[in-house]
Amino acid sequence: MGKRKTYEEFRSYKWFGVDDLRAFGHRSRTMQMGYDAADWDGKPVIGIVNTWSDINQCHVHFKERVENVKRGILQSGGFPIELPAISLSEPIVKPSTMMYRNFLAMETEELLRSHPIDACVLMGGCDKTTPGLLMGAISMGLPTIFFPAGPMLRGNWKGRPLGSGSDSWKYWDDLREGKITQDDWPEVEEGIARSFGHCMTMGTASTMTSIAETLGFVLPGGASVPAPDANHTRLATQTGRRIVEMAWSDLKPADILSRQSFENAIAAAMAMGCSTNAIIHVVAIGRRAGFDIGLEDFERIGREVPVIANIRPNGKTYLMEDFYYAGGLKGMLKRIEQHLHTDVMTVSGESIGANIANAEVYDDDVIRPLDNPIYESGALVVLKGNLAPDGCVMKVSAMDRKFLKHTGPALVFDDYSAMKAAIDDENLDATEDTVLVLRNAGPKGGPGMPEWGMLPVPTKLVKQGVRDMMRISDARMSGTSYGACVLHVAPESYIGGPLALVQTGDLVTVDVDKRLIQMEVEDTELERRKANWHPLPPRFERGYGYVFSQHIEQAPEGCDFDFLKTDYGAPVGEPDIF
Ligand code: FES
Repeated sequence: MGKRKTYEEFRSYKWFGVDDLRAFGHRSRTMQMGYDAADWDGKPVIGIVNTWSDINQCHVHFKERVENVKRGILQSGGFPIELPAISLSEPIVKPSTMMYRNFLAMETEELLRSHPIDACVLMGGCDKTTPGLLMGAISMGLPTIFFPAGPMLRGNWKGRPLGSGSDSWKYWDDLREGKITQDDWPEVEEGIARSFGHCMTMGTASTMTSIAETLGFVLPGGASVPAPDANHTRLATQTGRRIVEMAWSDLKPADILSRQSFENAIAAAMAMGCSTNAIIHVVAIGRRAGFDIGLEDFERIGREVPVIANIRPNGKTYLMEDFYYAGGLKGMLKRIEQHLHTDVMTVSGESIGANIANAEVYDDDVIRPLDNPIYESGALVVLKGNLAPDGCVMKVSAMDRKFLKHTGPALVFDDYSAMKAAIDDENLDATEDTVLVLRNAGPKGGPGMPEWGMLPVPTKLVKQGVRDMMRISDARMSGTSYGACVLHVAPESYIGGPLALVQTGDLVTVDVDKRLIQMEVEDTELERRKANWHPLPPRFERGYGYVFSQHIEQAPEGCDFDFLKTDYGAPVGEPDIF
């Protein structure tokens, strides 16, 4: 910081600036594309890692926005190079986008390393794209700025606002209960996703782009701007201008990130009523940056910071568009300023405290004051016990509070197909006290921890008006989901974690006050069951799935690949340019 780089110090100089046969090839082949020396000479090359695709509904506008980013880069004297990366459309990619978050992280890191890139803009937003891009860029370590896709417009059906995901589950239950008709259902389908942009509830996308901003990677206020807003177009150009400055001043992730910035991100996550996925991603990002962030950080900060963003699925009414008009993330951070380390650096070149110095809240019902929260402590809690010795997660801010302490008999499903086949059975042996258990849905077992954790309430109970039940799995759930769902149980059942040993009829207790999850089964009986347990066959024996199965870590460690962690082996050096 302070000292400006010289052109000769840029990585791209080694490709374009030197006078040898290889550089001749780099220059002549760049000229083949219609560029000449005026495009690169004396300029930083800015890589734009763009997760656009024809089948990513949340990033449709990236084809246009990338031109706005390039405009900003050109205005500031940089050379923009667009690098497409895997897109990861949350609803379309199977078996789970989580299978491919680390794939995107590897792709991002290697795209940046193998090309003549001096600094980068990351274009993402749809759930796993944000952590995947950040993890890769942090490992590479070049000056980095994140451009968020922005939330889509509010959904609408018959004048009622519709929230991504959250209202899919709600109206699906209404349909099963008979509150709406088969004629209504297609109208909900048409009205729930009205524009490009990511989910506009406080799902994983809004959570992670807000976390990216709180960590310091987004220009101030950027994460809250709705995708179709002209401010979003301007944000793209401003982002392009700013990254060129960051290249010259060499403002790298290592200059921005600290343990304090991760504590800020967790505090913001708690206040916004974050997606449960935040835990996995923040742990993974933190460990890439060299900070040992863990479940205990979420548990500790969650006890201090209340949920104040009244955004679905936590609140009843509001969506991200309302959040933006109410002051957005900057307004919310101002409200929780006492819980932040305000002196940490951001991509603006200023501290986060300076970024929010003049921020205001314009609607106290959307962004509540600290003394009138949506939920008095943080959104998430971490439970441990004989069912989850390494921990599991529950989103207490978006569930029926009667389940804060609950004991009930387990009804166990060995996989999703078994659960799906049974859930509509009118004779299913289940009451509203039953604890639904799904196993083999974790990192290796799912594979990729699919978002199955909000198990459907059995249809016969939905018809009786039951809308929430205790559910336990080693899966994840969508950030747009809600209910008494215990998730990320670790170790997972597929590798023989205790979840593999629960049997239908066992009593299971969840006690949030005690942070306890327990099956009421004697240790000797558990040992007997463990001795009789047999692993399932491997999910994959070749290809990417094989690499994934061999190297994926458990949820409390962030589900990174072991060999991608910062402290795994010697650092990767710069490529030889021969
Ligand atoms: Fe892309 Fe929800 S589907 S963010």
